[in-house]
Amino acid sequence: MASVSRALAPKPSVEAIATGIAADGRARIAEALQDVLGASYRLLVKTQIHHWNVVGPLFHPIHVLTEAHYEDMFAAIDTIAERIRALGHPTAAPVIGTEMTKVTTMSAKELVEDLIADHEALCRSMRDAASEAEEADDIVTNDMLVARLTFHEKAIWMLRAVVAD
Ligand SMILES: [Fe+2]
Repeated sequence: MASVSRALAPKPSVEAIATGIAADGRARIAEALQDVLGASYRLLVKTQIHHWNVVGPLFHPIHVLTEAHYEDMFAAIDTIAERIRALGHPTAAPVIGTEMTKVTTMSAKELVEDLIADHEALCRSMRDAASEAEEADDIVTNDMLVARLTFHEKAIWMLRAVVAD
């Protein structure tokens, strides 16, 4: 019975890991990645809402591009959350804000500009997390963030191209 009660006992939220990244470094990286995770989730939801509500002559290219973007972000969110777990920290459910509802009245150009601003903010947040990872010699997190930044910078380029005059 002792083993059962031990198995059911609450576990500490931060696990002891000896992979060569100091505990304080893992904590800082996990916190930064949690910001990235939340912002990625919010941008995924917003991208899908814009995908549904876009109207006008640019409907088709924006509808197709946003679908590619939310599908990529859906997979990436799982990767980011699992990296936080591999660093020994819990992942919290990101909060999706109620301000989402107002985006349904935007023009096609406005909603693309809205997405670009969020992609750019997310890039800055990822760069902050990459700095923490670099400081702690966490090349795995860095590698993941390089891939994510590559995606988001390309997404920004394509979104800009769609609404260029
Ligand atoms: Fe769709």
